[in-house]
Amino acid sequence: MKEIKLHNIIEEIPEGIVLLDGNLSIQFYNKVFSKLLSYKEGSPIGKNLRTIDFIQEKQTIKDNFYSDLKERKIIKSLYYIKNNNESIMVYVFSKNIQIDGIDYTLLTIFDISSLMQCSFNVNKIEKRINYLEQKIIGKDEKIKELFKMIKLASESTSNVLINGESGTGKELVARAIHEVSDRRSMNFVTVNCSALSESLLESELFGHVKGSFTGAYKDKIGKFEISHGGTIFLDEIGDITPLTQLKLLRVIEEKTITRVGDNREIKVDMRIVCATNKNLREMVTKGLFREDLFYRLNVFQINTTPLRDRKNDIPVLCEYFIDKFNIKTNKSIKGFKEDVMKLLMDYPWPGNVRELQNVIEHSFIVCSSDYIDLFDLPLELRQFNFREIKAEVSNDHLLFIKSNKGKGVNIKPRNTLTMEKIIEVLKSNNNNKAATARQLGISRIALWKKLKKFNISQ
Ligand SMILES: Nc1ncnc2c1ncn2[C@@H]1O[C@H](COP(=O)(O)OP(=O)(O)O)[C@@H](O)[C@H]1O
Ligand SMILES: [Mg+2]
Repeated sequence: MKEIKLHNIIEEIPEGIVLLDGNLSIQFYNKVFSKLLSYKEGSPIGKNLRTIDFIQEKQTIKDNFYSDLKERKIIKSLYYIKNNNESIMVYVFSKNIQIDGIDYTLLTIFDISSLMQCSFNVNKIEKRINYLEQKIIGKDEKIKELFKMIKLASESTSNVLINGESGTGKELVARAIHEVSDRRSMNFVTVNCSALSESLLESELFGHVKGSFTGAYKDKIGKFEISHGGTIFLDEIGDITPLTQLKLLRVIEEKTITRVGDNREIKVDMRIVCATNKNLREMVTKGLFREDLFYRLNVFQINTTPLRDRKNDIPVLCEYFIDKFNIKTNKSIKGFKEDVMKLLMDYPWPGNVRELQNVIEHSFIVCSSDYIDLFDLPLELRQFNFREIKAEVSNDHLLFIKSNKGKGVNIKPRNTLTMEKIIEVLKSNNNNKAATARQLGISRIALWKKLKKFNISQ
């Protein structure tokens, strides 16, 4: 085996290494140190570290650095050094050693500019993950997939088309793309394209000059200009007229806008994110949406999932909204009664997360106990529950529900009543069947049938 020279290994260590004697004169150094030092006057061996002006800091910092070294104090600190006319930050640490009974100090010098870049990136990534997880709630695989898409979209500047039913979080996604992208320090501007007439939308997007139409009393900057450097979110893009479609196409192709009533072209650079609950591709085949614009907008497509297709997320969303409304209303509601939770899981949520949020907000206004009851829910959900129960329970049970409507009785759909629950309530009512049935929200006959079914001795 060939002998490996220690010296060769030290030369290849990626940090600067320099050995100083008790007077701080250089006894040994490696390649990286000489590079960091960018010392032009031959070998620095035998030179005093102080005289070659190693660090570029204020005089007091310099003085402390050299006196600490001399006094053999341990140095572990960041300093600026001059490297070929550039100031770079290094981390210096010292180690006092003895070689053949003589004291030396070994300095190791890390160039941390690359490390800083790395931690900057880690920071950026962490920020992105935090934003998404704090704002977009859900544990379902579809949400994880959505996070991936948002991250990918945020790394590019391509136009994004978000497709999904109303209330599934399209706007939330659009904002998230902006917030985790490098454009986040600039504006995020939302325009609801279905809320305005063609001419008002045009002036909203492009701005106008004073006197360009009746009512244009002063110059107005359009949303495209406001979103310059940032992101513009065009909601309900499927609702824009053919003329607006054409104008939007021009903006994308030419990256310039002209204010209404003006002829000056203004350069704009904004990321365009659109959303729709319509099937744009189908609109294209029907001739209702320009094909060229469709392809321009649909460079990167993201689909949001209806709540009914990710029901696993209902409990976490409920928890999230309960926390949110507890803070907002200063209440301390703990959750839902079991039957309410079952209903929330069964309900098809045509209005998706927005509807769930509204239902919980409504319940907060009505609820006066720790747990939200069926009667705290909006009528629509109670009616849905009523229909569901109707399918499940016998007639006498139904009558009981009707006669108790509005009294706040805890109505349990039959299949949620477990044997344990019945025994527990029986015990708490000293085996009194009528009281037990009342508390369980079922008729005495239904209770009797249950007792028989579960073989509970009467
Ligand atoms: N996954 C989610 N986590 C938390 N809130 C959500 C989620 N999805 C939607 N929301 C909330 O529901 C409401 C509707 O969302 P929005 O983005 O306006 O839906 P869309 O634009 O698809 O109609 C908003 O208040 C939004 O904050
Ligand atoms: Mg919306």
